[in-house]
Amino acid sequence: MNAITLLKNDHKAVEQLFKRFEKAGPRAVKTKQDIVERIVRELSIHAAIEEMVLYPAIREAAENGDIDKMVLESLEEHHIVKWVLWELERMSPDDERFDAKVTVLIENVRHHVAEEETELFPQVNQVYGRAQLADLGEAMENLKKTAPTHPHPRSPDEPPGNLVAGAGAALVDRALDVGRKLVRRAS
Ligand SMILES: [Fe+2]
Repeated sequence: MNAITLLKNDHKAVEQLFKRFEKAGPRAVKTKQDIVERIVRELSIHAAIEEMVLYPAIREAAENGDIDKMVLESLEEHHIVKWVLWELERMSPDDERFDAKVTVLIENVRHHVAEEETELFPQVNQVYGRAQLADLGEAMENLKKTAPTHPHPRSPDEPPGNLVAGAGAALVDRALDVGRKLVRRAS
């Protein structure tokens, strides 16, 4: 799949989860927790594949200071989002700050998505041809299967550090995911 199409599809999927959260009533605690768990997973994987594949690729291909600036800003936005996700994972949905934190998360992600789609992706489209975009897309699609499923705001977010740390973190994340599923099934 074309890299930009893949990332835009991810953005749409997350936006749908945001809308579902916004529609959930104040007492739909369980529903809201489920939605947030899915948001954490989607955004963690999405951030990882962008950081591992898209950002390094675009910085390498484009000798253009504007692109570096955009990518660096994107990394900082990811960093803030990861911290908020990290906190949400450790917070009970009946905490009085829970909804407010999700609202701020949604605002941040919407801003980030809008910037990527209107500024960064058009640059990516200029720098890369169709075949290269398909290769990048395929690399990200494959990476999705093994990327971290939880946020790691303290870990490196650029290569080569993120590739090493990400692989280890992903193994732990996925083992924990399986454990949690089993516990849930048993209860
Ligand atoms: Fe992003």
